[in-house]
Amino acid sequence: MHLTIPFFFALYASVFVSAQQYAGDVIKNSLPTVAGAEVAFFKIKAPNGQSNLTLINYYSHGRNGKRIVESNIQRAVIAVHGLNRDPWTYETELLQAISRVTDPNITTDSVALMAPYFTNENDKNRGFPFSNGQSTTNALVWSDDQWLGGANNIYPTSYTNISNYYVLDQLVQYFDNPAMFPNMKQIVIAGHSAGAQTVQRYVILGPKLATRSPVVYWIGNPASYGWLSTTRPASTADRPTLPIASCPTYDVYTDGFTNFTGAPYFMNYGASLVEQGRPALLANYNSKQKAYARATHDLGDESMTCGTNTTGLNRNTRFFNFIKAFPASCPDPAGTACDTIDLVSASHNAGQMFNSSAGLARLFTDNFYGGHNRAFDYGYPREQAGDDPYPDPSQDDSSSGL
Ligand SMILES: *[C@@H]1O[C@H](CO)[C@@H](O)[C@H](O)[C@H]1NC(C)=O
Ligand SMILES: *[C@@H]1O[C@H](CO)[C@@H](O)[C@H](O)[C@H]1NC(C)=O
Ligand SMILES: *[C@@H]1O[C@H](CO)[C@@H](O)[C@H](O)[C@H]1NC(C)=O
Ligand SMILES: *[C@@H]1O[C@H](CO)[C@@H](O)[C@H](O)[C@H]1NC(C)=O
Ligand SMILES: *[C@@H]1O[C@H](CO)[C@@H](O)[C@H](O)[C@H]1NC(C)=O
Ligand SMILES: *[C@@H]1O[C@H](CO)[C@@H](O)[C@H](O)[C@H]1NC(C)=O
Repeated sequence: MHLTIPFFFALYASVFVSAQQYAGDVIKNSLPTVAGAEVAFFKIKAPNGQSNLTLINYYSHGRNGKRIVESNIQRAVIAVHGLNRDPWTYETELLQAISRVTDPNITTDSVALMAPYFTNENDKNRGFPFSNGQSTTNALVWSDDQWLGGANNIYPTSYTNISNYYVLDQLVQYFDNPAMFPNMKQIVIAGHSAGAQTVQRYVILGPKLATRSPVVYWIGNPASYGWLSTTRPASTADRPTLPIASCPTYDVYTDGFTNFTGAPYFMNYGASLVEQGRPALLANYNSKQKAYARATHDLGDESMTCGTNTTGLNRNTRFFNFIKAFPASCPDPAGTACDTIDLVSASHNAGQMFNSSAGLARLFTDNFYGGHNRAFDYGYPREQAGDDPYPDPSQDDSSSGL
């Protein structure tokens, strides 16, 4: 027995040396501590093979306060922060939400909770060391808010070709690796607000990875969407939009996909797919499983461009216009492309969304045991035709006149 243990660890070290949690460089920081989690350093491998790049992230511990036992993990939940780049808040909120799950099997011993940190220039010295105008470590840093569209990193300057979407690909592959996580059943990539923008565009642009665990993308209250056609919804009295004539740049990435490889994002991740045209983007988007979550009290705007307003003047209108133009569907509830839409009585608040019955189902309990069960759509009455891809048969929805 005693002889097998060192051999086991040696094997792990050699196989997973390229992209791995705890294997990145230790980046000096003064980030907040989160009880039940640590600031961890994930080693990221670049497309050219360079592997000394580090993603800073918060990563949960098991209930004993120690690092997780990978072989006991059945689910990974990765939550992308919002515009404030505060992964500590998201890690805390995931930990609080999982504590509300009533199934005693669903705990931090069986679920890995990760909140990646997509840092920018403003995080210098607090999130990563910086001196004499230079970032001095291999910490991955992006420019401004460009991580919400998957732009390339700016630091370390030794390699600036890492989209944070490429990082998400590696996280999915890491958790899907059967040698590392033999009991993995489900991977959840969640984003709220700007994090939801990040995830929604990742669903459009990311390759459909051949994973053995299903991947579901939880999209909560984004201010804007990558729009999958060059037309925009007509303005109506109920749902006013800005006419495209008033916004010639309406389709420039990130609102649409015009100028994808040009200013201001200079994308290369997903560029060959974008070249194939919008139908290819839509087909890729539709091939994946989305769990949309809409807070019914969230009528905020937070548009950063006029293009966002051509899809609706607030987050609520933009959501309903988006799913009208690009319907959600659940062709097979046990399949891996069954979308759900939850209407949650909450404001623009990730913690409230995670804590809701709908949040707990999508983040933690749906398909926990690998039996492909999932909860019906939450939140009745519904608001418009087509907004109920997985209807709850116990709900009489005639009141909404659909
Ligand atoms: C990272 O690795 C690459 C080669 O893979 C090397 O050129 C570069 O100098 C390294 N950078 C640092 C800061 O270690
Ligand atoms: C928890 O897991 C055990 C053993 O795997 C199983 O027997 C039990 O039914 C599970 N509990 C629930 C609530 O599903
Ligand atoms: C498109 O990209 C080019 C090249 O980067 C840039 O000069 C131009 O301003 C961009 N156009 C728009 C409408 O954003
Ligand atoms: C840059 O990244 C893209 C994928 O995002 C890859 O296709 C390309 O080969 C990379 N270029 C270099 C020089 O590493
Ligand atoms: C979008 O429309 C809202 C509501 O009319 C307005 O307050 C906001 O300034 C507009 N956003 C941009 C970027 O023009
Ligand atoms: C979520 O639930 C946890 C645990 O019950 C609670 O501590 C926390 O305040 C709740 N957060 C929100 C935003 O409702």
